[in-house]
Amino acid sequence: MHFTHAITRLPADTFSQGISTANLGKPALQKAVEQHEDYVRALQLSGLTCMVLPPAPTFPDSVFVEDTAIVTNNFAVIARPGAQSRLGEIDEMTTILRYHFSKVHQIQEPGTLDGGDVCQVEGHFFIGISARTNQNGANQLAEYLKMHAYSSEIVPICEFSGILHLKSAVNYLGEETLLVDPRLADHSAFQKYRRLVVSLEDAYSANCLRVNEVVLVPSGFPKTLELVQKAGFQTTELDASEYQKMDGGLSCLSLRW
Ligand code: GLY
Repeated sequence: MHFTHAITRLPADTFSQGISTANLGKPALQKAVEQHEDYVRALQLSGLTCMVLPPAPTFPDSVFVEDTAIVTNNFAVIARPGAQSRLGEIDEMTTILRYHFSKVHQIQEPGTLDGGDVCQVEGHFFIGISARTNQNGANQLAEYLKMHAYSSEIVPICEFSGILHLKSAVNYLGEETLLVDPRLADHSAFQKYRRLVVSLEDAYSANCLRVNEVVLVPSGFPKTLELVQKAGFQTTELDASEYQKMDGGLSCLSLRW
């Protein structure tokens, strides 16, 4: 999958008031801004034109733009975030995506769907059912994907405590390879792929992000870095510590197509 565009949003001064279960303390805003700058630079170095939206203080979690939509090369689906405090994040994103895409679908009530629960593997999508994404939202997305000749499959993750979104635990690195949390490594949905399994203590680092030639890896996880490198991938480490404190990872910080 080759990307040419990305959308990101700067963290707001309300960032620390977002939803968090991480128990890692409050994020430092200035450090989060610097980490965001490094992230945007990494996307640009990979050849992407990167839109950086201004902070949206009304929505403390709005830096995690990935949850607001699912984007492909030729259409977008506006999500319907499962956390009430995040629902309004989709309004501005809808306007922006309508400018970029001629075909824009929308998940409707009673469906809920966070983009973080959607993992694209070439022409196939895994859709996680989680505390944020319900069956109705997953079914709506599956219908839209089918209209555009993509296949999909649902992966329930509610039973795994501490896994917020599917992509907190499963990410596609390219070359038929998934990076997975050990709790999902043996799931039948993933059997046909090469699986690189992070250790449980490093579960956060299952959220790596392949962007064109490079895999972005959160810094501080040397075993995962080695795992990805030994599998033949070029890597760039990025510090995501302030986002980890708010339950977010590298994929959550952008929409890419
Ligand atoms: N703090 C990110 C989220 O809960 O969606």
